Amino acid sequence: MDIAIIGPGRVGTALAQALGMAGHSVTMGGRDPGATRYVDLRDTGIDVLPIPMASRKAEVIITAASPAATQAVSAALGNLEGKVLIDAMNSIMARAEPYATTTEALMAWTNCTDIVKCFNCTGFENILEPGFGHVSADMFMAGDSEKAKDVARILALDMGFSEVYDIGGSSKFQLLEQFALFWVTLAQGKNGIGRDMAFKVIRRDRTSEGTGAE
Ligand SMILES: NC(=O)c1ccc[n+]([C@@H]2O[C@H](COP(=O)([O-])OP(=O)(O)OC[C@H]3O[C@@H](n4cnc5c(N)ncnc54)[C@H](OP(=O)(O)O)[C@@H]3O)[C@@H](O)[C@H]2O)c1
Repeated sequence: MDIAIIGPGRVGTALAQALGMAGHSVTMGGRDPGATRYVDLRDTGIDVLPIPMASRKAEVIITAASPAATQAVSAALGNLEGKVLIDAMNSIMARAEPYATTTEALMAWTNCTDIVKCFNCTGFENILEPGFGHVSADMFMAGDSEKAKDVARILALDMGFSEVYDIGGSSKFQLLEQFALFWVTLAQGKNGIGRDMAFKVIRRDRTSEGTGAE
């Protein structure tokens, strides 16, 4: 897929590298594309363009900027008709006022109808490397657009996530941001266990012999 990632920070860079390695065509959209701080990114073969230009040429756009920049980013994205927008941001450090989540703000401030929240609830390290020995982390998403969810699922699986769980519609955006905060707290809170961890759902197969309820 032709993908633009907006916000060349930690998450944006991890997404760009992971999706590039998975064979997708990735361009980065930044507010200051000529900046020397993007040299390392360019060295990995990823071009940094002004946000409107990156957005225009992409079929899928992933937002990974600071939450306080949501309105500026929305304006810079231009016409998103026919495109899928995946929001990887969280309102943890700041909010896209007056909205509770960055994804609700993007729904209000862009004309995109195919929006999904995904890739927001794990550390950027896991986006780059979802494998943990012989198992891989799971990914979670929410949104009202089946088209956008189909795209997010394909990309997450291409990146190496094991399962992609659809937790519901746009009413679950806040829950997904809280889930991200839970990850941050578990990683870096008072009793934090460090960032080398991710969420995986384990399920009991009651149809298998010997595991059913007696
Ligand atoms: N860190 C994580 O592990 C993680 C994981 C999942 C989700 N998230 C979420 O992802 C988002 C980004 O986090 P991050 O850790 O990648 O942050 P970061 O490294 O600080 O990067 C933030 C990016 O936002 C861009 N930006 C800031 N203001 C902008 C504006 N007005 N217009 C356009 N771009 C602007 C910055 O661009 P410049 O380079 O031009 O400054 C920078 O590239 C946050 O919402 C965060 O909650 C973070």
